[in-house]
Amino acid sequence: MAEKKIVILAGDGIGPEITAEAVRVLDAVASVSGVKFVYDPRDIGGCAIDKFGEPLTEATVAACKAADGVLLGAVGGPKWDNQPADKRPEKGLLGIRAAMGLYANLRPAVIYPELASASPLKSEVLSKGVDVMVVRELIGGIYFGPRGTTEDGAAYDTEIYSETEVRRIAKVAFDLAMKRRKKVTSVDKANVLVSSRLWRKVVTEVAQDYPEVTLGHLYVDNASMQLVRDPSQFDILLCPNMFGDILSDEASQITGSIGMLPSSSVGEGKAGLFEPIHGSAPDIAGKDIANPIATILAAAMMLDNMDMTNEAELVRKAVGDVIAAGYRTFDMGEGNRVGCKSMGELIARRVLAAN
Ligand code: IPM
Ligand code: MG
Repeated sequence: MAEKKIVILAGDGIGPEITAEAVRVLDAVASVSGVKFVYDPRDIGGCAIDKFGEPLTEATVAACKAADGVLLGAVGGPKWDNQPADKRPEKGLLGIRAAMGLYANLRPAVIYPELASASPLKSEVLSKGVDVMVVRELIGGIYFGPRGTTEDGAAYDTEIYSETEVRRIAKVAFDLAMKRRKKVTSVDKANVLVSSRLWRKVVTEVAQDYPEVTLGHLYVDNASMQLVRDPSQFDILLCPNMFGDILSDEASQITGSIGMLPSSSVGEGKAGLFEPIHGSAPDIAGKDIANPIATILAAAMMLDNMDMTNEAELVRKAVGDVIAAGYRTFDMGEGNRVGCKSMGELIARRVLAAN
């Protein structure tokens, strides 16, 4: 029987409850597919600070690098807000992304027709559908550039990109475009930033290897406006790290609930990191009301990455069926109200029924 090693980084806040539901769904996948998942639960973020005094340990990094996939819940919470910068929970997340070389972060924003009423956009704007993939560069740019404070108390961060860093993420975007609607919109601020001018130049060069793909460029301010004016115009949004962070939150809200959107981070090694795009929501933690769907869909992206595409489709179909049947956690608008655990069970049951 094929075996897959999966590190579970549940993290803080609602992290443990949502990852437990994703594991429930993976267990259902295991029983219909014959693949065995071996889970290795590890700490990251605030819970790791409490236990080990640091948000990410070497042992956890080693386990993640050796795994077939890493499933992450969320990190952070008010308890750790006053930690020094290098010991904040977020540092654990940034650290694991960098340590695993996960330069490509894929954040699909898709609207489920049944949930369109939960979107803040008017139905006329949504009528052409929303299926945007934010391809975000994840381990470069201003998040990782030189930073510091000066003697007179000023503080700075630096946006820095090499051609290699831009080229490899651009390739991911164009390869993906070939499997989608063949349209890449690259986001930058080339009218102001010299790093953006390099970004634009390299992306334009990469595009020459993909004659079938249409490439457009937008300044980030315009892109953020266009995304709410007419989201259907976008297929792939290719973004530097920080612009992708911001635009993916915006894209998520267009779909109605940030509780629905997964993301996958891939790069140099075989293992990727799969997580919901939302945070740890400490205000609703432990109440069994969080939405586990984003994490369950992240698990589906992990299955895709492990070449289990049929199983991934099965999970996505189960999610779609449960939504179509009217089940909703509180963030999803009106419907048959269910909690986190019931939502996980409903989805797992549909996966099992497919056997
Ligand atoms: C995200 C988050 C993280 C980021 C934070 C928690 C460091 O906002 O995954 O989008 O900025 O990348
Ligand atoms: Mg973010």
